[in-house]
Amino acid sequence: MNPRPDDDNRIKIAPSILSADLARLAEQVAEVEAAGADRIHVDVMDGRFVPNITFGPVLVKWLRPATTLHLEAHLMIAAPDDFLEAFAEAGVDSLIVHVEGAPHLNRTVQRIKSLGLRAGVAINPATPAVMLEEILPDLDLVLAMTVNPGFGGQSFLPGTLKKIRTIRRMIDEIRPGCELEVDGGVDVETAPRLVEAGARVFVAGSSVYGAADGPTAGMRRLAQSLGL
Ligand code: DX5
Ligand code: ZN
Repeated sequence: MNPRPDDDNRIKIAPSILSADLARLAEQVAEVEAAGADRIHVDVMDGRFVPNITFGPVLVKWLRPATTLHLEAHLMIAAPDDFLEAFAEAGVDSLIVHVEGAPHLNRTVQRIKSLGLRAGVAINPATPAVMLEEILPDLDLVLAMTVNPGFGGQSFLPGTLKKIRTIRRMIDEIRPGCELEVDGGVDVETAPRLVEAGARVFVAGSSVYGAADGPTAGMRRLAQSLGL
């Protein structure tokens, strides 16, 4: 059984391989693992739900034996139900689907759990927090987008902070074991504001893998800014 990342309230960093040097993926993942990463975030895009195309289950299959870290797949795809089994077989530990991309969200979440995986739901910047209310009791994780999904290296949208506070309150009331993760524009400036708003897990693409002095230095700076 995989470690249960929600067993504590620790602040965690999830580097996103979207910004990694994919020709050296195993090395790049090993480097952030050694630098204290808690999990690896895999951004799956289909060119329909978002205007970009990235990875599928085959990448996860090759990544799985390269790390002992928890692998989470963030599915930014139009038909997530069609690919849940494939990602489970490839070896992910968590699947995150979008509230905007899964019309039968309850069914989708139950299927993720029946595959033995942790279930997360992502929410876009313009979608109100209340859209999570009915599904929250079933979730292991909420992923609040702090940019519009599709690309790494975008600027953090400060208007999302208010919603993150709202989601924090909802989680504390309805499902205290649920993790609150944020994704997009997380760096040394925005991370402390996001902690203050109640986020506990931080996806970081360009601030780790895009760091001019390398991912280890990027991780160290981000960890410091998060008070780790
Ligand atoms: C954006 C992705 C993010 C992306 C974040 O659609 O969901 O996970 O990798 O990249 P940065 O940290 O560069 O904003
Ligand atoms: Zn993501």
